[in-house]
Amino acid sequence: MADVAYDFSGRTVVVTGAGQGIGAVYARSFAAAGANTVVADLNRDNADAVSREIEAAGGTALAVGVDVSDEGAVGAMVDRTLAAFGSIAVLVNNAGLFTQLSRGRFDTLPVDEWRRVLDVNVTGSYLCSRAVLPAMEAAGFGRIIMISSGTILAGRPNFAHYTTSKMAVVSLARTMGRELGGTGITVNAVLPGLTDTGIEAAGIDDTVYDYIVGRQSIPRRQVPEDLVPAVMFLASEGSGFVTGQALLVDGGMSHTAV
Ligand SMILES: NC(=O)c1ccc[n+]([C@@H]2O[C@H](COP(=O)([O-])OP(=O)(O)OC[C@H]3O[C@@H](n4cnc5c(N)ncnc54)[C@H](O)[C@@H]3O)[C@@H](O)[C@H]2O)c1
Repeated sequence: MADVAYDFSGRTVVVTGAGQGIGAVYARSFAAAGANTVVADLNRDNADAVSREIEAAGGTALAVGVDVSDEGAVGAMVDRTLAAFGSIAVLVNNAGLFTQLSRGRFDTLPVDEWRRVLDVNVTGSYLCSRAVLPAMEAAGFGRIIMISSGTILAGRPNFAHYTTSKMAVVSLARTMGRELGGTGITVNAVLPGLTDTGIEAAGIDDTVYDYIVGRQSIPRRQVPEDLVPAVMFLASEGSGFVTGQALLVDGGMSHTAV
């Protein structure tokens, strides 16, 4: 959990993929900043555990089991959220297939896996954004944040399904940002660098971390807490004139967002 100065009291924040890793840190941090926090994840047990932790720390949370690529399940998640808290101010589209994915040249990736990555990482973000929109439009306020990845900038070999999906959500943010410009709803993307969550990810070992840290301006491993203030800024009222942007949070490894 990051120590931040934002106050989200009275705001409802939905974080998808919040059962583990970076999403769990977003959820705990928003809850500590006063938000009614929806901990949504495919893994219901993990969502329950994070939600219980938040409640034990004095926060307010609702655990929801959801597959973000399933339109009906996403609709049910939004219905449950509105029944519990009455509004949705912030959606963090963090759920994604990342740690478990195969690596290989683009022509060797299993086609089923290619489709599943696009379905979860892109269509999932689209469906969740679409489902929260009526509540945000009714309130005249909303913050939608896509979690992209710094891997889209240089192209990460052997990870074409992932990098393609993460470029797509930046484009989605940009187009949605323009479409929603007059509604009080902003849509932005955050591009994290390689972030150490303590969870093993296929193809990422100490050699990879050392290589990445060596290319960063700030020479240490990125941790989930490094991302929280950027996400909270984009979730805050004060960022209302910022939309369609791609914000790199990578310790200064790259200097140009898309
Ligand atoms: N860790 C990194 O280095 C890094 C870097 C850049 C971007 N990201 C992105 O940040 C996000 C979180 O990354 P992480 O490292 O915590 O990953 P992670 O794999 O540890 O966590 C992802 C979470 O998403 C959930 N999820 C997967 N499919 C889902 C679905 N269909 N519906 C609902 N939930 C689903 C998983 O159950 C898991 O709890 C991802 O979008 C990832 O692509 C991570």
